[in-house]
Amino acid sequence: MKTHTLLMPLDMHLHLRDGVMLENIAPLTAYSFSGAIVMPNLVPPVTTLEEVKSYKERIMAAVPNDYFEPYMTLFYKNYDKAFLESVADEITAIKLYPDGATTNSDGGVSSFNIEEMRETLEAMSELNIPLCVHGETAGFVMDREAEFMSIYEMLAKNFPDLKIIMEHITTKAAVDMLEKYDNLYATITVHHLLLTLDDVVGGMMMPHHFCKPIAKRPEDLEALLRVALEAHPKVMFGSDSAPHPKDKKESCGCAAGVFTAPIALQLLCEIFEQNDKLENLQEFVSDNAQRIYGICPEFKEVILEKRPFEVPQTYSNVVPLYAGKEINWAIQSVE
Ligand code: NCD
Ligand code: ZN
Repeated sequence: MKTHTLLMPLDMHLHLRDGVMLENIAPLTAYSFSGAIVMPNLVPPVTTLEEVKSYKERIMAAVPNDYFEPYMTLFYKNYDKAFLESVADEITAIKLYPDGATTNSDGGVSSFNIEEMRETLEAMSELNIPLCVHGETAGFVMDREAEFMSIYEMLAKNFPDLKIIMEHITTKAAVDMLEKYDNLYATITVHHLLLTLDDVVGGMMMPHHFCKPIAKRPEDLEALLRVALEAHPKVMFGSDSAPHPKDKKESCGCAAGVFTAPIALQLLCEIFEQNDKLENLQEFVSDNAQRIYGICPEFKEVILEKRPFEVPQTYSNVVPLYAGKEINWAIQSVE
């Protein structure tokens, strides 16, 4: 049987939620990943040292049996330098959401005024705290990410020592932007390596393929695949696995978010194998992130095997991507 081994897989963009959802969902990632950058878009969002610490404790309590490092983040506000110094040891990054751009992003940034953001972004540069950005404007849905490129440019130019991560990129425009500034990096999800807008609304409307940013055009998918498959040194895997209860997805007014945590590594093996690039997957799911973020996760070895695996219809009350479908790789063992 064909197998493939991954060491210390990392998910550089993950939604774990809170309460019962956290308890149900966190073990699925902790089983096969060494660590994950945990998004702060709870309700209300994570904005204080106390909230970071207590959220981390709740995460650790939800995964008592696994070695798993939650890399904590704060929800971006124009924080002052003294505050950032006091939290720097407890967080790995700060996540910026434009106000209202996606699920639970109310209270995010409503105007990208460099002078208003300067103290925060200069302090983050000095303290080496990366800025993770949800890069979408409030424009037409297919153009939001491309329109945001001018904001990335402004940030990258004004704060050359700030590591800026373009989160869950979905366009060729974002791929091209990677080459323009040394301090720009990106995460890519697994669903954006599989889906285009056709898979969301081209036939029957597919709520479990609906997320922000929305999947784009075939040429965008191709550009994403190219940099992922070559494990471009500025690109990392970030699942953006975003669980919502089944009734919030299969409803009038479907919540944005695709749930992939338990099948992400299997799907990545399938994509990389199909393209004859399995040898690059280690860099994409771990090595690049370790280098970019300067993190050293503890040892974990995940062995995947090539065999048919039927994706469960639900995990608790959450429907995963490709529910009920057969995929071609499965997890054999984790040590
Ligand atoms: C995410 C969520 O549900 O929290 N939803 C999504 O569609 N990706 C938020 C986000 O990352 O945009
Ligand atoms: Zn997200």
